[in-house]
Amino acid sequence: MTNTTDPTPARPGALVVGASGITGSALVDHLLALGWDVTALSRRPLARDGVRTVAADLRDPDSLTAALSDERPTHVFFTAWQRQETEAENIRVNGGMVRDLLAALAHAPLEHVALVTGLKHYLGPFEAYAAGEMPDTPFHEEEPRLDTPNFYYAQEDELFAAAERQGFTWSVHRSHTVIGHAVGNAMNMGLTIAVQATLAKELGLDFVFPGSEAQWNGLTDMTDAGILAEHMVWAATSPEGADEPFNVVNGDVFRWRWMWPRLAAHLGVDPARVVGYQDRPRPLAEQMTPHEGAWPGIAERYGLVEPDITRLASWWHTDADLGRAMEVVTDMGKSREAGFTAFRRTERAFTDLFDRYRAERLVP
Ligand SMILES: NC(=O)c1ccc[n+]([C@@H]2O[C@H](COP(=O)([O-])OP(=O)(O)OC[C@H]3O[C@@H](n4cnc5c(N)ncnc54)[C@H](OP(=O)(O)O)[C@@H]3O)[C@@H](O)[C@H]2O)c1
Repeated sequence: MTNTTDPTPARPGALVVGASGITGSALVDHLLALGWDVTALSRRPLARDGVRTVAADLRDPDSLTAALSDERPTHVFFTAWQRQETEAENIRVNGGMVRDLLAALAHAPLEHVALVTGLKHYLGPFEAYAAGEMPDTPFHEEEPRLDTPNFYYAQEDELFAAAERQGFTWSVHRSHTVIGHAVGNAMNMGLTIAVQATLAKELGLDFVFPGSEAQWNGLTDMTDAGILAEHMVWAATSPEGADEPFNVVNGDVFRWRWMWPRLAAHLGVDPARVVGYQDRPRPLAEQMTPHEGAWPGIAERYGLVEPDITRLASWWHTDADLGRAMEVVTDMGKSREAGFTAFRRTERAFTDLFDRYRAERLVP
């Protein structure tokens, strides 16, 4: 007999937390394409057809509880974060957001909660980034936690405790640098490089690799936001994905000394102005900040939609990732053995993204 008062949705119901971000927006696209019922949570409501939006502040538990009281998702994809000045604050704020979100869903028929974290799980937090004792590369999921306090560990612990209490399965997705689409978010290497190339072309500057010798010459990998979305949905819906942490990268490896000139060519940079690693890192924060004032004029000249360069380029983050004095590669064997075999070519991930940013008039 059908219980007509049962409000559980017939289609799987996803709540994407942080839906306007670089990871969350790719998840929304993927879930909609799969026919899921999608609810999107962020502070600024997401402008997206086919999605129900919940505008709520994860740092305000009372308003969160009120905003979610009628929501009954079966699956939660947690992709929100807020960068703080210290790791102690990151732990307090970002651990608290996972705890309060899941507490506000105590009434919901949750089956699975997927949390995206990253390789700082192995490398340590930004304030002790790639310093001290580090596991050997490629990184494997079974490595013990580092001794250093880390907001990813705090988020995991909140997730594990709520899973135990509320009776859902969980997965953790340890992503490398995300190559994806967002505007006004905290960490966006693809758009940062596209903006660097635009400034270089317009102002007659060299297109200089900002990072370390180890990054220029060593092997590395990346995570396309689309494959991250596929990975999270796979884990959320497969028995093999339940109650496990997984690395998630594209599945190919490359060296920046190979990739940098190729990205330059795609961005229309004169090959004579492409400069690789020489003597020392050349952080973008040093190279590009003095030229930020040129952006509004460039935006006007080309009819670009975002005149505020600080909503496009995250120099600090690209500097941190490309400045690591060690090779960073990530093992995907655990995911593959469990049945996730999708892959992306990283060069294609970058060039498709550049084309999308151009089409949306974010870069010329
Ligand atoms: N980006 C990368 O390259 C990268 C690489 C590896 C790992 N990661 C990790 O992946 C996770 C997700 O990062 P991301 O880069 O995808 O994030 P992001 O693009 O910065 O997006 C963050 C999202 O969270 C929402 N949000 C932030 N504070 C909120 C609050 N108080 N209440 C409600 N919503 C809030 C934001 O929307 P509103 O601002 O509108 O609220 C936005 O939708 C983080 O743990 C990050 O460390 C990222």
